[in-house]
Amino acid sequence: MNVLTRTILASGVALAAIMPAAAQDGSATPEARADATLAKMTVEEKIALLHSPMTAMVPPSKRPEGLTLSAGYVVGVPRLGVPMLVSSDASLGVSNLMNMRRGDVATALPSGLSLASSWSPEIARAGGVMIGSESRAKGFNVMLAGGVNLVRDPRAGRNFEYLGEDPLLAGRLVGGQIAGIQSNNIIATIKHFALNSQETGRNVASVEMDEAAMRESDLLAFQIGIEQGNPGSVMCAYNRVGGTFACENAFLLNDVLRRDWGYKGYVMSDWGAVHSTEAILAGLDQQSGEQIDAKPYFSKLLTQALADGKVPQSVVDTAARRVLYAAYAHGVVDNPLKKGVDIDYAANAEVAQRAAEAGIVLLRNEGGLLPLAASAKRIVVIGGNADAGVPAGGGSSSVRPVGGAKRLGKGATSGPAATFAERFYGGTPPLEALQAELPGAAITYLDGKDVAAAAAAAKAADIAIVFAEKYATEAVDQPDISLGEGQDALIDAMASANPKTVVVLETGNPVAMPWQSKVPAIVSAWYSGQRGGTAIARVLTGKVNPSGHLPVTFPASVDQLPNPVLPGSDAAPADKATRAVYGIQAGTKPFDIRYPEGADVGYRWFDAKQRQPLYAFGHGLSYTSFRYSGLQIDNRAPMTVRFAVTNTGQRAGIDVPQVYLKRPGKAKRLIGWGRPDLQPGETQAVSVLLDPRVVADFDVRKRRWIVKPEQVTIEVAMSAAEPVLTATTRMKRQTIKP
Ligand code: BGC
Repeated sequence: MNVLTRTILASGVALAAIMPAAAQDGSATPEARADATLAKMTVEEKIALLHSPMTAMVPPSKRPEGLTLSAGYVVGVPRLGVPMLVSSDASLGVSNLMNMRRGDVATALPSGLSLASSWSPEIARAGGVMIGSESRAKGFNVMLAGGVNLVRDPRAGRNFEYLGEDPLLAGRLVGGQIAGIQSNNIIATIKHFALNSQETGRNVASVEMDEAAMRESDLLAFQIGIEQGNPGSVMCAYNRVGGTFACENAFLLNDVLRRDWGYKGYVMSDWGAVHSTEAILAGLDQQSGEQIDAKPYFSKLLTQALADGKVPQSVVDTAARRVLYAAYAHGVVDNPLKKGVDIDYAANAEVAQRAAEAGIVLLRNEGGLLPLAASAKRIVVIGGNADAGVPAGGGSSSVRPVGGAKRLGKGATSGPAATFAERFYGGTPPLEALQAELPGAAITYLDGKDVAAAAAAAKAADIAIVFAEKYATEAVDQPDISLGEGQDALIDAMASANPKTVVVLETGNPVAMPWQSKVPAIVSAWYSGQRGGTAIARVLTGKVNPSGHLPVTFPASVDQLPNPVLPGSDAAPADKATRAVYGIQAGTKPFDIRYPEGADVGYRWFDAKQRQPLYAFGHGLSYTSFRYSGLQIDNRAPMTVRFAVTNTGQRAGIDVPQVYLKRPGKAKRLIGWGRPDLQPGETQAVSVLLDPRVVADFDVRKRRWIVKPEQVTIEVAMSAAEPVLTATTRMKRQTIKP
């Protein structure tokens, strides 16, 4: 007897008595089970699967009983055993802004960019397993987690949620994360499909890019993520692509996702991203957050469109079948949510700590200033609210961590950001963690507002550690890449007062560092989550040997970027007519976003243009050193690159050697990497298997990836800008289905 047939409904009626035979049979395919259930459903029940309200906007008396306050819910088909689908954000932990205010907590993982700095799909998976288990225990069976928009601009407000600028790295990491989440018998949602790489004008802007460039960059990240993670759901984005809203874009949803990639799950909209009932004809299955759209497109108006014959019944059936398919395929039906499940927060905090430690990037370490020497007895810690906790990004992904969070000021007080503008600091404060790690040292803290006092304290100390932060949030982009709030001047003054100054960056984006040459040691800790303070202290003191590598390029200035001016930053505010047409309450007039880099995102652009960034994609130092040797290439398709890595230093450490392929006249592309964990003196073999799509051209006319027979250069490198071993080889021609 399978789990389902043993399950008894609250009413006491055995499911076996009321469910169609195939739907009960756990050994039947999810397709067969979905078909069997669909055959028993009324039209109303089918339509009920296709829209979800934002829970907070439903009066409590009208909410289904037992519903956890959530981003949204779909009522399900209880009489046929299909449970309510209850969703919560997001990739960094179980976020629930509403429950947060009621004191709910969850384990906060570090930000997406921190996770991506680990270059480890295993760490991504472990984080996913953990947040998925908390999600289920809190009453959610759909996690709006799996953000994989590529970082195209270091000013974009949501970059901290995403996984960097490279489609292979981001795709593999999101795949690991999704697989981990779904191992809990819940559905994960890869998002925001597609090209939602900035917040400015996100509801109105149209990304204008040729198809080949999309396929070779942003779409490839989704494609790899979907292949590796098999998410039950895809969330379409707010923006338009080629003039058409992503949530009614037949090219994206029907052609690319379904026809070319064979995706079988369902597409849900972003909250407030639906603009028509006809969107269902273009491949959208579910309208989420329906009250914030202009109209009830997928409920009342869909019923009307069915009656008028504008939407055929078969289209509604297809959409409902996809929702059912995902619910069966991902164990949501067979494993009903249970209330009162205990969460092992102590064990989960360890997962967050391991992720934070793996995501810290040592950018600079002149003279081996780090790890902190045992002789450093007087340490002054300055700024960044390091006495309060570590910062976090804002918006729908916010997690109130276990232990609570302190609210210290606003990130923005007006505009759309205002609602998301609370700056929270959580977890063990770095100051406290450092004091615990270094009991023999006198460690004091100054907030840095009085620069002269901070400089005097730095001068009197053996070491000064400045925490520099920059707030980032959903809904708002940043005007520039400076740290702001006087922090550049503060750091400069500290470095002048004490040459042994360390800067710890806590940001959601790459930042400029005008003081860089004066500061011997710089660490990027990103937003490091609930155990971030501890992780930072353990890296600074050497308990943990840093192994993070940048998943994004740090430009020297915005002038190096493909778009020195953020697209739409000068767009006029939306007038009444625009607001009505686009169904928005605020924002800008519509505009087009053009990305001159096309598929050459991030390091590829810097390579193509021969520009020297401040810190290159892939860069990350260690307290030990590594040697690469023995590069060998087997160029039979699929190509394999082999080499060895030796730890030539005194400490154990993890390295991330990267392999790039450079075609004649083209920008280099990452084709793989290793992550060997090496004792001093130890050597390990690394082998990288080429996914040919990463280096192919997408031929739009033939709808095929084409690998050209040509001589290419292979680099084994410490970063996109630091090749160590190089060799040439001849590619074999290959033609691959999309
Ligand atoms: C965000 C999504 C999120 C949704 C539900 C939207 O504003 O763009 O990422 O999942 O809200 O909270």
